[in-house]
Amino acid sequence: MKQTEEHSHLKEDRAPVEEDRAPLKELDEWDDFVATRYRQGKSEEEFRNYKADADPTVTEFYRQNHKYQTLDFVLKKKAEYCGLNRGKKSIWEMAEYLNTLVDDSDPDTDVTQIEHLLQTAEAIRKDGHPRWFILAGFLHDLGKVLCLYGEPQWAVVGDTFPAGCAYSDQVVFPEFFAANPDSDKSEYQTQYGIYEPNCGLDNVHLSFGHDEYIYRVTEKYLPEEAQCMLRYHSFYAAHRHGAYRHLMNEHDEAMFEWVRKFNPYDLYSKGRERPNTKEILPYYRELVSEFFPDKIDW
Ligand SMILES: [Fe+2]
Ligand SMILES: [Fe+2]
Repeated sequence: MKQTEEHSHLKEDRAPVEEDRAPLKELDEWDDFVATRYRQGKSEEEFRNYKADADPTVTEFYRQNHKYQTLDFVLKKKAEYCGLNRGKKSIWEMAEYLNTLVDDSDPDTDVTQIEHLLQTAEAIRKDGHPRWFILAGFLHDLGKVLCLYGEPQWAVVGDTFPAGCAYSDQVVFPEFFAANPDSDKSEYQTQYGIYEPNCGLDNVHLSFGHDEYIYRVTEKYLPEEAQCMLRYHSFYAAHRHGAYRHLMNEHDEAMFEWVRKFNPYDLYSKGRERPNTKEILPYYRELVSEFFPDKIDW
């Protein structure tokens, strides 16, 4: 009897060969891990001990991310999504759509996706930054709708890194890159790989995810500083640890000042009070329509 029960339980829970494409209970588990990694006041030594902060689910998530984000995969996903062929929607329709991504989060403690966007934007607004900066805060995670398009978690979130050249050990869990097929391609494993020295990040293919997608969707409506905030906000190896400077040009260096200015608002806005959505929504409706037409291509 017991054996049968165990057997049926196994069958129900997961297919025996196919990998679990969603090891994280919810996407925010990755964001929470990053915020813990960079908790304010942490020493360098504490930081390097980040594995202690990673649940097995987060570790498994990175194992998959580092294994499957090959240069081929990145190029394939860019071809699939960056032509913006998924129809027209307003920013608000997409925000509502993203909010359907609730997983099994606890409604009492976890903020919704829109609330995270508003919290980030409100923190920026309170510090008196320009309107485009506030808007970048409101938009920055909208690319997570990739998850609702059916992409696995490892293709939506995670620290981003360049594909097609040697992996930096400043990327978290660098040991997991050994399982990436690109590790065996010697032309991809030199310092510059397929790139030229200081060619500029615009010519570099970062691992695919919500950063690149929201950047592509919004680029023609936003100033360049905001574009870079959206495009590189998960590129922690570069903006937090100074890795990959040999691929960056002077323009990237200047833009990364803004990426670094943006980062604390993303990391630390969650601890703040829940935004009074009803009260602040009119401000954001006006802000969004200042920069965007009603419907845009996604
Ligand atoms: Fe993000
Ligand atoms: Fe975020």
